[in-house]
Amino acid sequence: MSSELQQVTHIDNVRLGDDEKSVVIIDQTQLPNRTVYLTLRTPQEMYDAIKLLQVRGAPAIGICAGYSIYALARQWDITDYAAFAEKFHEAKEYLNSSRPTAVNLSWALNRMEDVVKRSSGKSVAEVLDLLGKECRAIHQEDIEMCRKISEYGLSLIKDGDGILTHCNAGPLATSRYGTALGPLFLGKEKGMEFHVFSDETRPLLQGARLTSYELQKAGIDVTLICDNMASIVMKNGWVQACFVGCDRIAANGDAANKIGTSGVAILAKHYGIPFYVLGPTSTIDLNCPDGDHIPIELRDESEIREKWYAEPMALSEVKCYNPAFDVTDHSLIAGIVTEKGICRAPYTESLAALFAEK
Ligand code: MRU
Repeated sequence: MSSELQQVTHIDNVRLGDDEKSVVIIDQTQLPNRTVYLTLRTPQEMYDAIKLLQVRGAPAIGICAGYSIYALARQWDITDYAAFAEKFHEAKEYLNSSRPTAVNLSWALNRMEDVVKRSSGKSVAEVLDLLGKECRAIHQEDIEMCRKISEYGLSLIKDGDGILTHCNAGPLATSRYGTALGPLFLGKEKGMEFHVFSDETRPLLQGARLTSYELQKAGIDVTLICDNMASIVMKNGWVQACFVGCDRIAANGDAANKIGTSGVAILAKHYGIPFYVLGPTSTIDLNCPDGDHIPIELRDESEIREKWYAEPMALSEVKCYNPAFDVTDHSLIAGIVTEKGICRAPYTESLAALFAEK
């Protein structure tokens, strides 16, 4: 693997602090201009890091939350199990309220709390030891899942293909290779070349700031386009597949991802281009029957009106609607690529089968 590729795919985006009482993240809001590491110690710093997208991308949010609650628990001076479990629950609820759409957040926090619940009768020191193992396991499993997703995703494309992606589902948002970008990094490692179109992804520009940064740094051919240019590159015949990540997949295959994703899927259908959603099984929520039940985060109006601009680009009194995610209807999805394989329609059956397997 070239050193450029290694640097991108092995970036330390989220890790436990050496004291195990803090979490260290790359501040994704500073990229691509500055690589700044933040050390999170307080519940508020951890909550804000997720809320403000300093750490973002569904799997990375889950990993950060797992490390965060462990780091907090290590700081408490509590020896009584019941008091520890109660404080743990409060901290969990607080962190869980930072962002609503990515199910990986509650998935990781519930996994951590299950460790506490299963440990009644053990000393707090023993519980802490188990929690340390669990948050590291969440991270390690994500590394393995991303690698497998990348392999399955790579089987869907061929050397020389044009791929369109939206938002950022690469190493910064996950672990190592990423999900939607994983097949491209893996293909590059194997000597394949792809032509990637990266939607800039208004309003927070994850595609411009993060996806084009990761791909360019790794030596992958990437062209940055504004979101409203997806149609023309598809019409020109430059796109053979769309690869996107996901924040929550409902039981029927409806998939929530960054705002604008469903528009890409509709365009892809029009031009006869397969549209794939790539994500770990930790992003599948079988308790959620369909996309109408996925909570959609609404963010501050200023992100549309003034963020990134030297001066506001709309009157301050203009109303803005700023949903952070949309849901792509399952009928538009050619396949859902997970670490356990590629699910095809009917998704109600193929997704349920993933969880039925031992
Ligand atoms: O608001 P963000 O930047 O956290 O949104 C992220 C996405 O929509 C990603 O595509 C998704 O979380 C998958 S990351 C592997």
